[in-house]
Amino acid sequence: MTTTGIRRASHLRDVSVAAPAQARIRVEGVSKRYGEFQVFRNVDLEVGEREIVALVGPSGCGKTTLLRCIDGLLPINEGGIFVEGERVTEPQAGVAMVFSISACSPGRPCSTTSPMD
Ligand SMILES: Nc1ncnc2c1ncn2[C@@H]1O[C@H](COP(=O)(O)OP(=O)(O)OP(=O)(O)O)[C@@H](O)[C@H]1O
Ligand SMILES: [Mg+2]
Repeated sequence: MTTTGIRRASHLRDVSVAAPAQARIRVEGVSKRYGEFQVFRNVDLEVGEREIVALVGPSGCGKTTLLRCIDGLLPINEGGIFVEGERVTEPQAGVAMVFSISACSPGRPCSTTSPMD
């Protein structure tokens, strides 16, 4: 996921229908490296109240890494991540990641605030 922004990436697309009026999650110019390995760079993303966004891309492009960064589970190298206006620097109460779609029981909706791996 070496890209100048999710909305412009050809291989990792933000498929939200419209930009949210007021973002609950904001990802601004975020880059992530493991040592010398650049996973992604300069990623921008906004997710609004009750908005459902899918990160789509080939295996290894950085989808899970980005979700872990948003959750505060992984540090970022550049940029900023904000949840409801608060900069994310560590895992936050009330923000969770569901690691598998099978974790959602049929008929029971998953939280719309939970990034899903
Ligand atoms: N702890 C780590 N140290 C070094 N490289 C890592 C680490 N975790 C992930 N990577 C690398 O970062 C890249 C992105 O991995 P990531 O798991 O985010 O991809 P993904 O898009 O979620 O893939 P998939 O669709 O298979 O789940 C991959 O090249 C992966 O090998
Ligand atoms: Mg993944």
